[in-house]
Amino acid sequence: MSKDKKMEVADNLREFMDILREAGELLEIKREVDPCLEITEIADRAVKEGREAILFHNVKNSPFPLLINMFGSKRRMELSLGVNDLNEIGDRIMDLMKFKKPEKFSDKFDILPKLMEIAKYPPKTVKKAPCQEVILNNEEVNLDLIPVVTCWPKDAGPFITLPMVITKNPETGIQNIGMYRLQKYDKTSTGMHWHLHKGGAKHYKMYKEKNISRMPVAVAIGGDPASIYSASAPLPPEISEYIFSGFLRRKNIELVKATQSDLLVPAEADFILEGFVDTSEELKLEGMFGDHTGFYSLADYYPVFHVTAITHRKNAVYPTTIVGIPPMEDAWMGFATERIFIAITRILIPEITDFHMPPEGTFHNLIFVKIKKEYPGQAMKVMHGIWGLGLMALTKIIVVVDDFIDIQNAQEVWWYALANIDPQRDIIFSKGPTDILDHASSEFAFHTKMGIDGTKKMPEEGFKRQWPDVISMDSAIKEKVNSYYSEIMKDSKHGKGFR
Ligand SMILES: Cc1cc2nc3c(=O)[nH]c(=O)nc-3n(C[C@H](O)[C@H](O)[C@H](O)COP(=O)(O)O)c2cc1C
Repeated sequence: MSKDKKMEVADNLREFMDILREAGELLEIKREVDPCLEITEIADRAVKEGREAILFHNVKNSPFPLLINMFGSKRRMELSLGVNDLNEIGDRIMDLMKFKKPEKFSDKFDILPKLMEIAKYPPKTVKKAPCQEVILNNEEVNLDLIPVVTCWPKDAGPFITLPMVITKNPETGIQNIGMYRLQKYDKTSTGMHWHLHKGGAKHYKMYKEKNISRMPVAVAIGGDPASIYSASAPLPPEISEYIFSGFLRRKNIELVKATQSDLLVPAEADFILEGFVDTSEELKLEGMFGDHTGFYSLADYYPVFHVTAITHRKNAVYPTTIVGIPPMEDAWMGFATERIFIAITRILIPEITDFHMPPEGTFHNLIFVKIKKEYPGQAMKVMHGIWGLGLMALTKIIVVVDDFIDIQNAQEVWWYALANIDPQRDIIFSKGPTDILDHASSEFAFHTKMGIDGTKKMPEEGFKRQWPDVISMDSAIKEKVNSYYSEIMKDSKHGKGFR
């Protein structure tokens, strides 16, 4: 598929697999594989080798095929969101926010159509939906039907890893959709691993405070890839993931009322698990689980999700992922989040020109930020801004560099930052909430943070000597060498350089 072609956007997993097939991005395996550990070993190798998405047609003891690694490359992330380049989405958001000063009265209304684009594709509700082609109630409910993967040897059981967990704010009725793993306990119940800082956990707390014991929950699995991705996106609370995925797709998504509650679920999903969390019930031990940090996250107590109905498409496909020592498939989901949310970050902290979360930092451990520095202490101002911003507040280490550095190139960032610091002067420590998966913090969910100011220093920042220039070649010489370099190198082997 040509990169310039107008991108299609998939309405469901089947259409997405067609797009992947056409792009040469889908590997279909007919051989029987075991969902217990064996799929992980294959997927772990495949993602690290930069291979295609894999559709396992024949999963041991399951009637359903299993799709893995569907987001596991930059190209597939772009295909899943229907763009040629992930930066297009950040640019669209930035464009929405660029308000020019009104010159005449009628200009005051010009921004409205732009802002309306965010809500231009609101979800549509339908009466009949593919996700309800088969409805299983009461004794028919059996999670064993789904090929849930046991990922790693010390995992406490099989885990559903790409779910869209749908809950409703009991006061406003606004739904939240979050991706929280579900440990399968038995045929009708799972764990509900929403972390303390997440939308689902906040709703749970509200139900509990109101003494409402039965909290309706629905879990969608599969469906259109943009909606699956949106469940993992760090949207501000009360911004609907359905509206966000409509915005990403430039196309509405269809919703249908769940069969046992008034929750609205994606009509094109492959499976819907309907049920409830009982807020008066004791929490249950969840985990261990081989996590995206590359370590087993320790067992802890979480609510139980009781499944009272399973609905599914007749030809459902079960999508899943594995996490583990990075880089894994979720690194590409995180990369999409970075490219999309840069726009919002720049609106709130305007001197940031770009940021990058390298996969080895597993999202919360490390952020590289580059800024246009204009005044003393600005790098530190930016650090404090990030530590106050949504889920970015969980960041453990922030490295700030100047604007001309290639922020996606970790070697360049470290070279520049390490050269520019006098540790005692340029490193600050702070305290705040941590990602609850941080096993090194002395306290649960609370830790110290470090900011490294790798920018060029100003006299007011305590630097009184002369600052040296960064080496760079004369542009005329560069152009001259450009004109013959490939010619003189044509017989040379292209190695990997130092690394
Ligand atoms: C594959 C994958 C698995 C995840 N598992 C969890 C999880 O078990 N618990 C959790 O709180 N967040 C998990 N996350 C992160 C959340 O999905 C993410 O923070 C999201 O923004 C939460 O949505 P919310 O802000 O609406 O709560 C996971 C993300 C991915 C990509």
